Amino acid sequence: LLCEEGRILAVGPSGEVLAAAGGRRPELETDCGGQCLVPGLVDPHTHLCFAETREEEFVLRMQGTPYLEILSRGGGILSSVRAVRAASQADLEAATLGRLRSALSLGTTTVEIKSGYGLDTDSELKMLRAIHGAAGQTPQDIVATFMGGHAVPPEHRQDPEAYVSLLVEEMIPAVARTGLARFCDVFCEQGVFSPAQTRRILLAAREAGMGLKVHADEVHDLGGAALAAELGAVSAEHLLAAGDAGLQAMAAAGVMAVLLPGTALCLRKPYARARAMMDLGVPVALATDCNPGSCYCESMPLAFALAVLNMHMTVEEALVAATLNAAYAIGTAHRVGSLEPGKQADFLLLDGRSPAILAYHTGVSPVTAVYKRGERVA
Ligand code: NIG
Ligand code: FE
Repeated sequence: LLCEEGRILAVGPSGEVLAAAGGRRPELETDCGGQCLVPGLVDPHTHLCFAETREEEFVLRMQGTPYLEILSRGGGILSSVRAVRAASQADLEAATLGRLRSALSLGTTTVEIKSGYGLDTDSELKMLRAIHGAAGQTPQDIVATFMGGHAVPPEHRQDPEAYVSLLVEEMIPAVARTGLARFCDVFCEQGVFSPAQTRRILLAAREAGMGLKVHADEVHDLGGAALAAELGAVSAEHLLAAGDAGLQAMAAAGVMAVLLPGTALCLRKPYARARAMMDLGVPVALATDCNPGSCYCESMPLAFALAVLNMHMTVEEALVAATLNAAYAIGTAHRVGSLEPGKQADFLLLDGRSPAILAYHTGVSPVTAVYKRGERVA
C-alpha cells in the first residue's frame, strides 16, 4: 500500500506498488510483518453522545421487562433525555470524545452520531454542537444526524402531534440553518412515531436539504422499511421485524439496510434476516448502535463477529458491510470505506492472516494498529 498526503496512491503486489512510486523511495516504510491489512471500519449508526449510562434499566431488562415498556413508563430514551438536558455542552463533548477514542482503538475510523436525547430545540443543538466539538478533537471522520424524532418528550406526552409540528416548523429549520446535521432520522415504532408522523418529519427534513434515515421495523413491522423506500431514504436501520414487502421495496429503491446485531444480542431478539435481504438484492451495512439503552457497545469487531456467527454472513460480506457499504450509508463512500487509489488512507492492521480473524478471535479485538489519512493514530 503506497500513500501520499493522506491518500492511497497504489495498492497491490509490491512490484506494482513500487512501479506506481515511479522510482521514488517512500519517506517512511513499514513492514507489517505478515499481518492482515483492511480498510478502517466505518460505524454508520450510533447514539454515542449521551450523558449517563442506564445500568439499572439493563438489570430490569435482563429480568424480563420489555425495552418499549420501560420507555412507555418514562424511562429508557426519556431517562437519557433528562440527563442530557441537565448536562453542559462541555461535559457531553468530553463523554462523546471518550467513546470515540474507545471506538478508534477498536478500528473505527469513521463514525455517524445521532442527536435525539435533547428533544427540544436548544438541547438538540447542544448535542449537535457537542458532537462537532468532539469531532474536532479526534482523527476520525464524524457524520452527524439530527434525531429529534427519537421519542416524544414528556412535555408533549398528551399531544404528540404538537411535538411533530414543533419538529417540522421549528427544530428542523433551526438545525438546517446551523448546517450541523447531514441526515435526519426518526424512530418509527409502536408507541413512538407512527408511519404518518415519520413521513411528516422526514418530508420536512428533505425539504430542508437533509438526507433521510429511518429506524425501521426494529420491534414491530409498521412498514418503516417501505416508507424509507418511498421517501428515497439512504438507509433503513435495525429491521429486526421487517417483512418481505418492506425489503422488496428497499431493494427496488436501492435503500441500504443498516443492521445492528449487537442490539439483537442485547435485546435478546432474533437477528435481522441478513441472508434474506441479500437474496432479495438489498445491500447490507453493519453498525454498533452504541447507545445507553438497547446496546452499549462501541465495538465494530463484535458487530462483525455476530454478523458472521449469527446472521450467517460470509467474512467477505461482513467486511464490505462494515466498510464500503457502511460508508455509503452515511454519504462518505467516495472518500473512505475501501483501499482504492485516490481514497483516504484509512486502514487497520489485524493480528491474523485474513479478515476472518475479526470473527474468529471471538470477543477480542485483533486490531493492532489504526491509520487515519496515512498517519498512525492508535
Ligand atoms: O437504536 N431505537 C431507538 N434508539 C436506540 C436506542 C436508544 C436508547 O435506548 O437510548 C436504538 O436502539
Ligand atoms: Fe439506533
